[in-house]
Amino acid sequence: MQVLVLHGPNLNLLGSREPGVYGAQTLAQIDAELGKIAHDAGATLSCFQSNHEGALVDRIQAARSDGTQFIIINPAAYTHTSVAIRDALAAVALPFIEVHLSNIHRREAFRHHSHVSELAVGVICGLGANGYRLALRHALESLGAAGA
Ligand code: DQA
Repeated sequence: MQVLVLHGPNLNLLGSREPGVYGAQTLAQIDAELGKIAHDAGATLSCFQSNHEGALVDRIQAARSDGTQFIIINPAAYTHTSVAIRDALAAVALPFIEVHLSNIHRREAFRHHSHVSELAVGVICGLGANGYRLALRHALESLGAAGA
């Protein structure tokens, strides 16, 4: 079982970036927790963060042939702007869950629309870093992990 976690721009600053909105955990801490959950379920987890749209597109495309079975993605600001990331997700046709730390629907109007939600298995927002953990549990369960 192989799951890919993708983090978009500015999420490398988690922990210090607007902690009232995004929480106090760093990205490294979140990824480490996800790695442990995956490992305990006998799965492999890859995590990738980029501030660059094209790098995210390249990583999504690579998922087509590297054994990835499920993607968890927080496209961050690209959620609201990137047709390229949406098209890449459509092209690889892997199941994915969209995660946002904050509740984008309680924020500025420009954050209310997501280009990727329509293609997602599900969307989790507003639950902080717990959203990633819940998404991973769902991914593992849907891939048939024991005890997930
Ligand atoms: C975010 C919400 C986006 O609107 C914002 O641009 C982000 C993070 C979230 O996780 O809440 O960078 O995706």
